[in-house]
Amino acid sequence: MSQRPYVIDQMISAKTIAARVEELARTITEHFAGTDKLVVVGLLRGSFVFIADLVREIDLPVEVDFLEASSYGNSTESSREVRILKDLRGEIEGRDVLVVEDIVDTGFTLNHVVHLLQSRAPRRLEVCALLDKPSRREVDVRATWTGFEIPDEFVVGYGIDYAQHNRNLPYIGKVRFVEAAETVAAREDGAP
Ligand code: PRP
Ligand code: MN
Ligand code: MG
Repeated sequence: MSQRPYVIDQMISAKTIAARVEELARTITEHFAGTDKLVVVGLLRGSFVFIADLVREIDLPVEVDFLEASSYGNSTESSREVRILKDLRGEIEGRDVLVVEDIVDTGFTLNHVVHLLQSRAPRRLEVCALLDKPSRREVDVRATWTGFEIPDEFVVGYGIDYAQHNRNLPYIGKVRFVEAAETVAAREDGAP
């Protein structure tokens, strides 16, 4: 599959992310204080890095589960059709649940997942999203806690992909499409 050439400009450093993750975890720990067990649900694949860092800062008894939802495939445009590719392994009825998402863009993914999980009657259900792009919202849905509000840029890294690439970048970067010659030059400069 051929793709338009692009370079990645850093937007949020690994250090800035780590500091914010610590703050979010503190807020979550206070919110759910006294819970018998918090079920932390990561939405695959994008949230795998964020959930790994976040759960290690949450000072509560925690169970980790995953749900795989996909709407973008290899495109930069939402298909607006959310597919559940893998369901939770555990029951959440009567439980305290925290959904962990990497980014809320149009809102279709989070909206779909929140409705699905609410229908299973959890005791409490909250959402923590690392990134929020409010300017792109098409469905009225909001995370309880958000790491960073960002402008309308296509971002990658820290779990987030562009056509399944760049999830392993330790920072959040924005994709900038370029002419082919510029990509080559950027690579020679050591850029990703
Ligand atoms: C991305 C991202 C969010 C969702 C946000 O997932 O990880 O889950 O899109 O977009 P939305 O608010 O417009 O629905 P994607 O469908 O690319 O799957 P992935 O997590 O496996 O990359
Ligand atoms: Mn996702
Ligand atoms: Mg994706």
